[in-house]
Amino acid sequence: MNVEKDSLHQETHEITDLILAAKEKAYQETDDTPEPELTQSVGWPVECTVGPGLEGAIACETKIGYVNGGKGWLVYGGYNIFDLCAYSNYEEVSFLLLNGRMPNKSEFTEFKQKLMAARHIPNTLRLMMGFPVQDMNPMASLRIGTNMLRQRLTWRDMAKAKPSEELAVETDADAIDMDIPQSGQDHATYEFKRGHGQFNKPASARESQDDAEGMDACIHLISAMSVLTAAISRIRSDHIPIEWHPELSHAANLLYMMTGRIPTPVEERIMDVALILHADHGMNASTFASMVVASTLSDIYFSVGAGIAALNGPLHGGANEMVVKMLKEIGSPDNAKAWYAEKRANKEKIMGFGHRVYKAYDPRARILAPLAEYLARDNVQARKLYETAKSLEGEVIETLGKDKKIFPNVDYYSGIVYTCLGIPDDMFTPVFAVSRTAGWTARILEYIENNRIFRPRAIYTGGFVTDYTPLEQR
Ligand code: CMC
Repeated sequence: MNVEKDSLHQETHEITDLILAAKEKAYQETDDTPEPELTQSVGWPVECTVGPGLEGAIACETKIGYVNGGKGWLVYGGYNIFDLCAYSNYEEVSFLLLNGRMPNKSEFTEFKQKLMAARHIPNTLRLMMGFPVQDMNPMASLRIGTNMLRQRLTWRDMAKAKPSEELAVETDADAIDMDIPQSGQDHATYEFKRGHGQFNKPASARESQDDAEGMDACIHLISAMSVLTAAISRIRSDHIPIEWHPELSHAANLLYMMTGRIPTPVEERIMDVALILHADHGMNASTFASMVVASTLSDIYFSVGAGIAALNGPLHGGANEMVVKMLKEIGSPDNAKAWYAEKRANKEKIMGFGHRVYKAYDPRARILAPLAEYLARDNVQARKLYETAKSLEGEVIETLGKDKKIFPNVDYYSGIVYTCLGIPDDMFTPVFAVSRTAGWTARILEYIENNRIFRPRAIYTGGFVTDYTPLEQR
């Protein structure tokens, strides 16, 4: 692939080299033919074998992304994940997922402008600060934030609530702006602004059956989730949220708004790669949850809220935080063997390993592992975590890898990467959500174009003819 490199990619060519080396290794270990039965249009109703947890069930057709679990492939809209991480950026990948193709230059500029405008959510942030965010699970705060963002475009709500649009409380259109100058003063400047709204009602039906269901809502969510996550992180560490920086990328802004420091090009690039890697992943639990909600013709904000809730669990996105906890508990590479032997004897699951779909090495872990190693070079704590992770990986692959094809998944090395980027442990899963918002919203948009409400069955195994006994006789 011959790619004209922008300055960030030029400055961080070592990162590109690591990704391309991971790509080469992946390609050496697998062949490159797709699975015909999973990559062609199906005639409905479709026949498939379904296991518990809907394993093997085909829920829909998509052009958004493809996961080949046997070979360890991940493809977004025709582009393999290694090339996207090596050459692209999160904004471009979001456009690709939402539109099914790469943008041209003017489309990309316009898309980035829309993303930038959608970061302006001061009133939502102000409302968030009325909740006990310090004491709440950050994913719960993120759900609350998403609900408050929803008011922004839900004209239907407003019409119900108030007879006149002008009287309605629009979340971010007129707001008390919170602004800390970029030079980093520790006090906020509050300024009342009116008519700051950037969004017009979308015109076409595809773009919206309702203002909370169209492309603008997707863009709003993609941007605003990063602002909300950063604000939650800062509030939890007793800091005031920082206004986004107009000259920084999505990845750099996320780190800047969380840490208060403009990241180095390497930090920005690695954050960008992590965002790309987590942006979409087939019919995973949170994507499916968000699509189920969307299929009722509920709106995208409610749907993304469902995705956040599903992602929070330790079997899904919550695993990244658990992995770092586990590595700290193991303590050092030398302890990994004995620690693992005990867990294995107790038949306990090892966080960050295994996957419903991958029966080969997860390509996302292939990319994140060398990036974790690279970042941990100058960080003693992270170096220890990385070496412990490597040592444990060796033990697990030797046993579960050989017996059951269980390998590290995306969550195994991401926590070490985030730690090195200055992201607190309890914000790992919200950062995953920031990234996955592109995938959730893209798949929702695609699905509702040919919507049919999701409604599987359960096999009833209870009784049929039980006579009702009054409570006092039981
Ligand atoms: N450690 C030890 N054994 C495992 C693990 C693991 N991490 N994962 C699966 N197994 C074993 C499991 O015990 C079972 O063995 P047996 O057949 O002898 O009973 C077999 O592999 C199949 O496991 P399963 O739980 O039925 O597999 P699943 O497809 O339902 O679950 C999973 C997939 C990701 C939930 C599971 O592998 C797991 O719990 N992993 C640990 C949590 C984790 O790392 N989650 C992040 C997933 S990747 C990112 C994301 O999607 O969010």
